[in-house]
Parts: sequence; C-alpha cells; structure tokens
Amino acid sequence: MAEYLVCSEHEIVDGGRKVVACGDKEIGIFRVKGALHAWHNMCPHRQGPICQGRIYPEVVEPVDENCEVRTLQYNEGNMHVACPWHGWEFNLETGRNPVGRYRLHRAELAIREGQVYVVL
Ligand code: FES
Repeated sequence: MAEYLVCSEHEIVDGGRKVVACGDKEIGIFRVKGALHAWHNMCPHRQGPICQGRIYPEVVEPVDENCEVRTLQYNEGNMHVACPWHGWEFNLETGRNPVGRYRLHRAELAIREGQVYVVL
C-alpha cells in the first residue's frame, strides 16, 4: 500500500475538486456537502477522464398531467460529474450512474494532521 500527499484538508472547497497523479494512477478528489470523495479518473464507459468533467446538480425532468416534459429542474441535493468524452453522468457521493449499472471506482483517503492523502 502507498500513500500520496494531495493537499491540506481545507484546500478543496465545497463544490471544488483536485485531480492528482498518484504513481501511475490519476485520482480526483471532490468536496460535496463538506465531505471529501475520491474517484479514479477513469470512466467506466471507455476510460475517459471522468474527474475532469463538468460538475452540476442532477437534472430532473418533471412529467406533467399530459405526460410531457416542459421544463428541466435541478436537484441541488445530488451533485454529478459528466464525462467530457461522451457525457455519462455519475453521482459524486455514490459514484453511481443514475440510469445504469455502472459506477466509478472509489479511492481511499486518509486525513492526518490537516493533510489529505490518497491510499492505493
Ligand atoms: S468515456 Fe466517459 S462517457 Fe464515454
């Protein structure tokens, strides 16, 4: 097992991220609702750099009484990252793709004396 120093604990602000090289791997560290989450920077679709994609709230399409979608809404409680290659989305807290069985591969973090480490 190896540890890689990433940054100080408060460097990544809520809604922010940092993508770092850890040996031959790349890891994206995100802060969501105050908690840090780390994911391998490899999309389960075709290995695109998922951690470098756009971050935004889950898009919700409310269906009206005529079974039509007339507007889009955003669920601020579920933050997603969209892969820059083909647009697949993943929840930043669970790593799950909202419509499929795919999920991101989590990396372990350790926080000691105010410093954040990736543990691989
Ligand atoms: S590689 Fe990420 S959506 Fe295709």
